[in-house]
Amino acid sequence: MANSSPQATLYERLAGEVLTQVQAGKFAPGDRLPSVRQVSQQKNLSVTTVLQAYHLLEDRGVIEARPQSGYYVRAVMPPTPPPLPESTALPFDPTSVRIDDLVMRVVRDTLNHDLVQFGAALPDPDLLPTARLNRILAQVARRANPLYHTVGLPEGTPQLRAQVARRTYLAGCPLTPDEIVITSGCTEALHLALRTVCKTGDLVAVESPTYFGILQVLQSLGLHALEIPTHPETGISLGALRIALQNHPVKAAVVMTNFNNPLGSCMSSDAKRELVEMLEAADIPLIEDDIYGELAFSGQHPGVARAYSRKDLVLLTSSFSKDISPSYRIGWIAPGRFKDALVRAKMATNLTTPVLTQLAIAAFLESGGYDHILRTIRRAYAQKVSQMARAVVRNFPEGTLVTHPQGGFVLWVQLPGEVDSLALYNQAVQAGITLAPGYIFSASNSYRSFIRLNAAYWSFASERALQRLGELVAGLMA
Ligand SMILES: Cc1ncc(COP(=O)(O)O)c(C=O)c1O
Repeated sequence: MANSSPQATLYERLAGEVLTQVQAGKFAPGDRLPSVRQVSQQKNLSVTTVLQAYHLLEDRGVIEARPQSGYYVRAVMPPTPPPLPESTALPFDPTSVRIDDLVMRVVRDTLNHDLVQFGAALPDPDLLPTARLNRILAQVARRANPLYHTVGLPEGTPQLRAQVARRTYLAGCPLTPDEIVITSGCTEALHLALRTVCKTGDLVAVESPTYFGILQVLQSLGLHALEIPTHPETGISLGALRIALQNHPVKAAVVMTNFNNPLGSCMSSDAKRELVEMLEAADIPLIEDDIYGELAFSGQHPGVARAYSRKDLVLLTSSFSKDISPSYRIGWIAPGRFKDALVRAKMATNLTTPVLTQLAIAAFLESGGYDHILRTIRRAYAQKVSQMARAVVRNFPEGTLVTHPQGGFVLWVQLPGEVDSLALYNQAVQAGITLAPGYIFSASNSYRSFIRLNAAYWSFASERALQRLGELVAGLMA
């Protein structure tokens, strides 16, 4: 949670605790907080510490001081930072993909616990239901039919497919368990999908910027990327995609319709329908990555493009890596008309996804409480994303632009003065901070001066690291 960082000072921890209570609705906008003296007595903290905590919350726009009266939760959040404009002009040419080394460095940074983690898009461990899931895994392992220890269907267990089907129903795109194949994370789903619908050398339309994992799959399969401009709020440019389809032999498209990583853009229902109609008219499969759909800050899953498919050419993928456990590696795909070919590709890759973890996730979903967890984490990420975006504006040089995502937990930041994000990354790691340089989100080096920041770990204590990053950016501008 916001106050759990071991490096946080006493007052930062207290500020984090109060913020958590505000986020949980214990104090509503306009409510008066307990007085400084009360808190000091209750918590056995000095008056100065409590005052420092309240001042910090005031600085962050969470509370306001009213003379002679005390501290109140603010009714209106402070103004939002300036938005990032439509994505920059791109070289509208097919590009072969080479981003591996840098991606590996950023991913390996997650194992270095001395670094402040603004890099890989991992969820906040404190927001994952790990203890409950571990208990369920132990129960499942004790009770599982011995058969499960010897065999597993390539499609996945019926229990988990039934649970996933239930989720698709709630997301407004009812699928049957038979339409679903369980995979080892969303990564394997993307890999199997592209392997099934493309052959080496084919051209694939992707958003720009796009998630580096998608580019890595393209690279490993010898596919080429056609990068389509993408708006930070409304998603892939349908006009640009139409022109691209007229001029290039595109064989598939990969689109994060809900909360693109790194932009956070979310396509409207009309745009999703138009996307599917355009691709299906040209018989081009759409691989839809909906890994962040459940993390909509509005609380309502925004729906999927797959719901508009008439030709069964949409392969819908997702996983439980962002909300239940990244390490269980449980994802899924609804491959549409490509199911038979995809199941064969799955068998040839690894026969099946480990059965016990599938059963554990199925039992977890069956036992209830997933929606409650989703409500909690959506609220927490909405706060973290908004607080971190404001902190970027406070601490980075003028001219910095930042996205306003309405779901997920990453921010995309355009640095001023054409600061090189790789130089920044190298200096940041020296200073004990990791981030994701813009280079890895495009096959054509389009985002030299951008960085992606993970807001999932955001806490008050993180502000010092962000301040340091801001200083490094300023230094690189000189
Ligand atoms: C958009 C997107 N798709 C897929 C993945 C990979 O998911 P998994 O960990 O389930 O393989 C990620 C992880 O960051 C992601 O952001």
